[in-house]
Amino acid sequence: MYGIVLLGAPGAGKGTQAVLLSKDLRIPHISSGDLFRENIKNQTELGKQAQQYLDRGDLVPDEITIGMVRERLSRPDTARGFILDGFPRTIPQADALAQLLRELGKCITIVPYIRVRERMLMERLSHRWTCRDCGAVFSYESVPPREGCKKDVCTGELYQRSDDNPETQARRIRIYQEQTAPLIDYYRNLGLLREVNGEHTIPYVHHLLRQLIMTSHECD
Ligand code: AP5
Ligand code: MG
Ligand code: ZN
Repeated sequence: MYGIVLLGAPGAGKGTQAVLLSKDLRIPHISSGDLFRENIKNQTELGKQAQQYLDRGDLVPDEITIGMVRERLSRPDTARGFILDGFPRTIPQADALAQLLRELGKCITIVPYIRVRERMLMERLSHRWTCRDCGAVFSYESVPPREGCKKDVCTGELYQRSDDNPETQARRIRIYQEQTAPLIDYYRNLGLLREVNGEHTIPYVHHLLRQLIMTSHECD
């Protein structure tokens, strides 16, 4: 079983790397941000509750977020493992995750922390384009946005996330520093944290992550 929790600031490359690892390891990629955006697109009750927080770049309250992830992690496709991206983001979320995994008979096997300097984060977020249909992420350099999505057979329209404007980016990074960065020490103290330099190219970061994951421990 692989229980992978990806840590890193907004723009560090969590989503990009999670997609690659999910393909390699054939375990689901669970992104709390993607789950919120899907619910907002479909105008579900959860989506209506979450929208104002995402628009401002604030964290959605823990009760809502934890309930959503609990439901997702309880599905049978997580039997061989999971890759969490964007959750947990606060200490109470991390405590709730530990409790939930105990209940489900699963565990965290490794917490890769993708480290990227702040000015590079803003730069990446400003150049990110996201597919309206499948949620795939591109950088401006890799795919000219007017050509649309190029993921497999998808041809969806590419858009810039509403929280990718400079003000909201800066706010998300500040909230990350205040509320999420403490999780680095939290998981270091549990012996689960492994640092990766996220400033390398996408394929090289993927290679480094794979190496770490292959040597991670098993659940007790
Ligand atoms: P979420 O969707 O999780 O956003 P985030 O944490 O701000 O992270 P990003 O998706 O912006 O960055 P990423 O690390 O995935 O980078 P990416 O791979 O795209 O959350 C959004 C919102 O939802 C939150 O603000 C909050 O409101 C709410 N929310 C979500 N989870 C929550 C929770 N647990 N609790 C409460 N609220 C929650 O890469 C970025 C760009 O860089 C891309 O263009 C990519 O192509 C490029 N890139 C990636 N890697 C490289 C590389 N190595 N070299 C060059 N370019 C690269
Ligand atoms: Mg992401
Ligand atoms: Zn697409």
